[in-house]
Amino acid sequence: MNIIIADHYDNLCEVSADIVKKCVRTQESAVLGLATGSTPIGLYKKLILDYQSGDVDFSNVTTFNLDEYVGLSRSHPESYNKFMNDHFFQHVNIHPDNIHIPQGDHPKLEAECKQYEDLIRYAGGIDLQILGIGSNGHIGFNEPGSDPEARTRVVRLSESTIEANARFFGDTALVPRLAISMGIKTIMEFSKHIVLLANGEEKADAIQQMAEGPVTPDMPASILQTHHNVTVIVDKKAGQKLKNQSLYRTS
Ligand code: F6R
Repeated sequence: MNIIIADHYDNLCEVSADIVKKCVRTQESAVLGLATGSTPIGLYKKLILDYQSGDVDFSNVTTFNLDEYVGLSRSHPESYNKFMNDHFFQHVNIHPDNIHIPQGDHPKLEAECKQYEDLIRYAGGIDLQILGIGSNGHIGFNEPGSDPEARTRVVRLSESTIEANARFFGDTALVPRLAISMGIKTIMEFSKHIVLLANGEEKADAIQQMAEGPVTPDMPASILQTHHNVTVIVDKKAGQKLKNQSLYRTS
């Protein structure tokens, strides 16, 4: 696990955008795994600016998002579909046919999950997977206790995730209780390179346990210690509880 402690959030976004751009430029048709949430918004902003200045071209890129709430239509204001359109897709030249987000209001959720998994496999896996991390250590919506062998499936959100995401819905009661999420096995097996981003002190405990604690389903992100190609980029606040600071690169 390669850990980079960025000076501040803007720096984290620049470093991660450089990794995405390198992947897009070097792969003939790059497959990106994408995350929603507050953390990657600055990364998407940076990539949009770079696209607008002609620095990067997404015309041959395919994307797969990590997750989507069950029960929300694509156009629901809080769907991850809408989030991705607003914050990234509508501003760059990724072909709409190449964008994949689980359909949360699909009438046959199990079939949708299986098809999503198959689509990633047919695409040849994911060249670069962007991850955020929950304060409880979740990746995607793989909450503490998730089976490390799990594939894309319907999951139940933990109480802490419902609380954390209530800020987007305005009321805890409005947060969907279920989501479709790539499984831990999906992420671990399909991703050739994983970049996990975290900023802010509310992520500091999770980052320390993820990187330096035991590998355990209680801290789902800790399994990334066993992946062959993981880059963790944190700002100083999210990295403040890491014990082996001298081992990590700063930028
Ligand atoms: C989002 C996702 C989640 C978030 C995590 C952190 O697609 O899969 O795991 O990455 O909840 O969210 P923020 O960035 O809002 O703190």
